[in-house]
Amino acid sequence: MSSDTLDLSASHLPQVALAFMNSVHSEELALVSELLTQLDDDTNNADISMQLNAWVAHTQAHFERENFLMQEYHFFAYPMHAAEHVQALQQLNSVQAFWDEAADREVLRGYIQSWRQWLQQHISTMDFVTAQFLSQFPLPNEAIRIDELRGHDTH
Ligand SMILES: [Fe+2]
Ligand SMILES: [Fe+2]
Repeated sequence: MSSDTLDLSASHLPQVALAFMNSVHSEELALVSELLTQLDDDTNNADISMQLNAWVAHTQAHFERENFLMQEYHFFAYPMHAAEHVQALQQLNSVQAFWDEAADREVLRGYIQSWRQWLQQHISTMDFVTAQFLSQFPLPNEAIRIDELRGHDTH
């Protein structure tokens, strides 16, 4: 499977009403783009595992941050949106487990293809509506400030 059919340009990601969400999405695409470069080059498996780890960690924080805000501000579609996060993270986790077992580059490339489509679809539906809703509240513009709020949350 060739990588050049994949659109890895952050400028082609759907934009939502909150700047910090757009930044997080661009960062995630950049992480995956780097991973794909590593897969295409002859990068060793250990470095690919590290990059895959970084992607999983970034995705976890990305989803937890959005879930936190939806709960905090009682967003009506929280269950639907959070369910898509759960499913996507489960898939990513199983792809990682399979990589750790088999180090199959083709499988990882194939997953990245479908993930890229998923990302486009998820942002333009769930994230779009969520950001529209959340934009009525005075939220910080940076993910790191949202994480500070999450850290101070006691429930
Ligand atoms: Fe998102
Ligand atoms: Fe989301």
